[in-house]
Amino acid sequence: NDRYCVFGHPVGHSKSPAIHAAFAAQTGEALEYVAIEAPLDDFAGAWRAFTAEGGRGANVTVPFKEQAHRLCDTLSHRARRAGAVNTLVLDADGQTRGDTTDGLGLVGDLHRHHVELTGARVLVLGAGGAVRGVLEPLLEAAPASLFIANRTAAKAEALAADFADLGEVAGGGFDAVRGPFDLVINGTSASLAGDLPPLPDDLFAEGGVAYDMMYGSEPTVFLHWAGERGARIIDGLGMLVGQAAESFRLWRGKYPDVAPVLDMLRRLL
Ligand code: ATR
Repeated sequence: NDRYCVFGHPVGHSKSPAIHAAFAAQTGEALEYVAIEAPLDDFAGAWRAFTAEGGRGANVTVPFKEQAHRLCDTLSHRARRAGAVNTLVLDADGQTRGDTTDGLGLVGDLHRHHVELTGARVLVLGAGGAVRGVLEPLLEAAPASLFIANRTAAKAEALAADFADLGEVAGGGFDAVRGPFDLVINGTSASLAGDLPPLPDDLFAEGGVAYDMMYGSEPTVFLHWAGERGARIIDGLGMLVGQAAESFRLWRGKYPDVAPVLDMLRRLL
């Protein structure tokens, strides 16, 4: 069987092995997928050791996405812009190819929920690695506007400047947010601390959608807040399964059915 893995630190709670086992069963692909805790200071060594033992590809999660980006022989344009890699592919010639599928996972999940991106007024909260990783596919869907708001305004402004060639994108602090928005995506890690960015009450347009890249058994603080203000709320579990499906396609050339795997994970939350 071909071998794949997810590298993280910690990695014990990763859902990726269960997701890819389900994809493999569904598509009839014979593969093995495990979780590996790589040492913080030698990600490249962990990848080399894995490929030496027959590893064909890997997912990469916190905190290795930037280290993975640095070790690749070739990068997709998306990974180059994201500055991060979540999918490693060992090519037939032994070269390591890097890609990032987080943004495709997000856009695919929005599509599954019938959230229209084209022509939409979009607000993205946060300006860290998670947000950088999804901006290209979001902007390629041609929203009417995309505003990046961040606690540290300068980071949002710099990020917007980096992607300005792809569409109507601007950035600033939370105090510069001017709604209404058709879609608000939370890409901050504020939910982890149970924090909510300071946002105006009239943030959402009629029929507006709130999306949190995080997920859990209960709605995040942000989704709870948004729901109380009339928004339709969606958490990031579908993005997780979607990015996995895009990685699976890169490795195996087959696109698995996301819905049943998402249902399975939802029941286990
Ligand atoms: P990630 O890889 O998850 O994006 P990161 O690069 O450290 O992690 O970025 C974290 C993001 O969450 C940043 O946008 C951060 O805001 P700053 O750039 O101002 O630090 C944001 N963030 C973290 N905790 C927050 C909080 N309590 N309130 C608002 N924003 C927060």
